[in-house]
Amino acid sequence: MCGIMGYTGTLPAVPIIIKGLEGLEYRGYDSAGLGVIKAGEISVYKTQGSPEKLWNTVPENLISSVGVGHTRWATHGAPTAQNAHPHLSPDGLFTVVHNGIIENFAALKSELEEQGYIFNSETDTEVVAYLLEKEYKGDVKSAITNVLTRLEGSYALGILCNDYPDTIFCAKYSSPLFVSLESDGGYIASDVSVLPKNAGKIYKIGDKEIGILSKDELKVFDIDGCRIRKTEIKVRDIKNLEGKGEYAHYMLKEIYEQPQAVEDTLESIIVNSRIKLNTLRLTKEKIKRINRIEFIACGSAYHAGAVGAYIAQKLMGIPCEAYIASEYRYSNPVPDENTLAVIISQSGETADTLAALREAKRHNAKIVSIINAPLSTIAQESDSVILTKAGKEVAVATTKAFSAQLVVIYALCTRLAYSSGKINKARYSELIEQMKNLPEKIREILKNDREYKALADELKDINYTCFIGRGVDYCAAMEGALKLKEVSYTHCEAYAAGELKHGTISLIEQGTPVVAVAAQSSVSQKTVSNIRECKARGAKIICIGNENSFTPDADDKMLLIPQTEDLFKTSLTVIPMQLIAYYTALNKGCSIDKPKNLAKSVTVE
Ligand code: F6R
Repeated sequence: MCGIMGYTGTLPAVPIIIKGLEGLEYRGYDSAGLGVIKAGEISVYKTQGSPEKLWNTVPENLISSVGVGHTRWATHGAPTAQNAHPHLSPDGLFTVVHNGIIENFAALKSELEEQGYIFNSETDTEVVAYLLEKEYKGDVKSAITNVLTRLEGSYALGILCNDYPDTIFCAKYSSPLFVSLESDGGYIASDVSVLPKNAGKIYKIGDKEIGILSKDELKVFDIDGCRIRKTEIKVRDIKNLEGKGEYAHYMLKEIYEQPQAVEDTLESIIVNSRIKLNTLRLTKEKIKRINRIEFIACGSAYHAGAVGAYIAQKLMGIPCEAYIASEYRYSNPVPDENTLAVIISQSGETADTLAALREAKRHNAKIVSIINAPLSTIAQESDSVILTKAGKEVAVATTKAFSAQLVVIYALCTRLAYSSGKINKARYSELIEQMKNLPEKIREILKNDREYKALADELKDINYTCFIGRGVDYCAAMEGALKLKEVSYTHCEAYAAGELKHGTISLIEQGTPVVAVAAQSSVSQKTVSNIRECKARGAKIICIGNENSFTPDADDKMLLIPQTEDLFKTSLTVIPMQLIAYYTALNKGCSIDKPKNLAKSVTVE
């Protein structure tokens, strides 16, 4: 994870770097730092906590026009100022900020320690600064090249060298890094969204490329030292961050943006009541040959994938499975050229998901990704990309991107089933109509906000909650439990409703809240039997479903959602659970948009 921002130009660098880091906080926010060069001397400032604290750390009169900064999500060493980046070489000549993990850092560190070097932090990054000092013989590019040959793992590096006080050096492998050339200078950043929206040109640094950036020029070289001609990338679809507006938190704002996010996404893929996946590079013949679909993702995106697996298997009648991306590579997967691997990621940079994509590709699977960030690495490495139109999501806990992923999955499964002759025209049209009605139904549910808030008030002192459901209701339960855990720090878990009696039911006692998602008419009565088992042991039931799903007792709560196609129920059932999680976190005074220990973009394995 971690975010990098750097600037060299004619303007004061410090405000540019700090503001950039504030925009990159979604990548980590436990500590931050920056280094600037002034009169050939480096000054470094670091702080525990988020980048805004740097404003109090840096002297007001510090004027420099070149520097690099970093916002951190700790991987090696606690989130202290000492471990914050930048890290310096022992002679102070090199300053390094890094996003990624140097996997062989321990071996490199021991080697350097044997040579007498003493380290100042617990980070993996410090070895890079030390190796640069060792390799430097007056030519920074050669020093960086030599250092890169020693590194294993992932990195985006921003490097300053006091001998070149107007220049930022950079290099990357597997972690994203962008450069922008503007009339006022050159910028580097982990994400285009924090680069200036002027008329300048934006470039993406490629793996094992080395960039040398001055205020008016970017030179890029490959690892063999050959100059590379970079092509400018076209940046569209990067909506400016509009702030929280009337909302207390981004999470709440984004929950309320869901009808629009779903509508915008559906409008981009359904035209004249037909599913138009223009970017899907699969002919009808290839679709007919698909005999297995694998949905691969992490966290909430995995829950969307789990919904996909249920729907695809139901509509296509072929084996469909959802995989947690971090497990995929190590599970001896068996995709082949007739497998469709559906990769789901909001950020498009999640390291585990990217690694799984590469594994599926190695087996010749066809790769379709569902992505919110069009310029991301996963988007670039996929055969086909379907974009979600959720706009920028700021809160670490995903809501609107998840909802947008779901509708892309519905459309993709419906289109594949229709193109392969597994469903007829009438069913195809019916499913499309149901999809088109989802935004309005989500709007209806959001009107019950007060009811969910009141429920959250009742839950605020609870320290264990159980979520249950079957089929896509189980996927919704998993997502509901994750939302509550991550923002309110309440311990909870989601169980396939029928599985509860095989162990977890021992945790149910008088007053234990059980959130039961029982919306799918095909299985809701089975879930109701499991609800009864919980009630018999004293559970307080919060049931999410339709009028005829469950008849609550006085102690229970029934949260009604509008009717829709069973397969699409997750889009509706998840909304009350998002709001309950939000209000529970609010009651507990949690840091809702930036929960502790988390980051939005998880670019390390
Ligand atoms: C939970 C959450 C995470 C992400 C996961 C994957 O609210 O946001 O679980 O879903 O880290 O991230 P992406 O979708 O960027 O690959």
